[in-house]
Amino acid sequence: MKISIFGTGYVGLVTGACLADTGHDVLCMDVDQGKIERLRNGQIPIYEPGLEPIVKHNAEAGRLKFTTDTAEAVAHGVLQFIAVGTPPDEDGSADLQYVLAVAKAIGQHMEDYKVVVDKSTVPVGTADKVRDVVRAQLDHRGLELEFDVVSNPEFLKEGAAVNDFMKPDRIIVGTNSDRAEEVLREVYYPFNRSHDRMIFMDIRSAELTKYAANAMLATKISFMNEVSNLAERLGADVEAVRRGIGSDPRIGYHFIYPGCGYGGSCFPKDVQALARTAYDCGYESKLLNAVEAVNYAQKHVLFDKVSHYFQDDLANKTVALWGLSFKPNTDDMREAPARTLMESLWAAGAKVQAFDPEAMEETQRIYGDRDDLQLCGTKEQALRGADVLVICTEWKEFRSPDFAAIARALKEPVVFDGRNMYEPQMLDRHGLLYYAIGRGRNQFQVD
Ligand code: UDX
Repeated sequence: MKISIFGTGYVGLVTGACLADTGHDVLCMDVDQGKIERLRNGQIPIYEPGLEPIVKHNAEAGRLKFTTDTAEAVAHGVLQFIAVGTPPDEDGSADLQYVLAVAKAIGQHMEDYKVVVDKSTVPVGTADKVRDVVRAQLDHRGLELEFDVVSNPEFLKEGAAVNDFMKPDRIIVGTNSDRAEEVLREVYYPFNRSHDRMIFMDIRSAELTKYAANAMLATKISFMNEVSNLAERLGADVEAVRRGIGSDPRIGYHFIYPGCGYGGSCFPKDVQALARTAYDCGYESKLLNAVEAVNYAQKHVLFDKVSHYFQDDLANKTVALWGLSFKPNTDDMREAPARTLMESLWAAGAKVQAFDPEAMEETQRIYGDRDDLQLCGTKEQALRGADVLVICTEWKEFRSPDFAAIARALKEPVVFDGRNMYEPQMLDRHGLLYYAIGRGRNQFQVD
């Protein structure tokens, strides 16, 4: 099938590459000339496992092409995927200007039937706006062409996006058109063969499904973070509690890991956007507001622990920091807890020596050169001359470090672990003080 994709960001590029990989004829469009040039040369703008080979392979096979020409992209596909950004406005609502600009372009250039697919995460009611914008352009041109607007939200996890696309848990399609349903069934047929994963519903329900899924996951995390804060004050171990409650299949083991707060491009933005949508329709979501507030506070917990340890005097202290990305297997630093920590440390006069397996360039890009940040080539280098170690991201290579070497390298033998990666006894054996989240020795524990 001929498919056009608007936006070669995270969602658009993964969608385009994976659809091309099953034989579809895909044209990706982006307004960023430099990005399109780089993609044509096989350079991938993001780090995502498995993405580069399929982009290259399908580009070489001629099934995946790139353009900056809007008219060409509209002419190409019967399917027009909108996968452009929806950054948060100042009030937390999603900014739809890029989505609606694509809709306008489709209305300006289309000459035959199109299925316009909202892939970006957009507020409930956006499909109606997209339809109005396309229709207005067609009216302006005096044309009565048929088209459908469909909501088909993505559920891709960064770091596992290719796999999530190729083996989806579910494919949600919101539509009121049999014709569009047939087209969507055909395009997703390669991903839907072993059993039917496609769930069709009305458009607004599909739009809400995406937000409800992310808000539910964020709620689980904030709930566990709250339990971890309670555990610290009650002298309990949240890791034991996690295993205890996870064994109930109604609760399950997934997404109940306490930590230093959720980050990334989706949860923070989507929870806020849904709370805003609720507010706009006259309903105050106390739960969503609390999920957001708990997460905000949780992102400050590591700093509070470090500051408390040094009796609120961090001037001239150097903190070794392992892990900068918002989670492992990505270089994405958006809303990363490590940023909150670093910025608080700097504000308190401390220096940071940081290492991350993938996010070093991104950190450099965001913060530039500064005296209180040293980007280190290895995790061992980050320890050299530092006072204490803090871990913000649970990268695999941090799982079994040389604890004796950590104890030797640090001025103070203290590890603050924002991801509960270790057994407290292991660090104890090496003479390391261990402050994790909701467990072990820590300053809030009641004796
Ligand atoms: C998420 C959704 O999982 C995905 O379905 C959606 O399409 C986009 O948003 P992503 O942002 O890539 O994907 O990250 P995810 O793996 O879900 O993690 C989000 C954040 O939650 C990370 O900061 C992670 O560290 C944190 N997290 C996750 C926890 O703190 N505890 C957990 O138990 C799970």
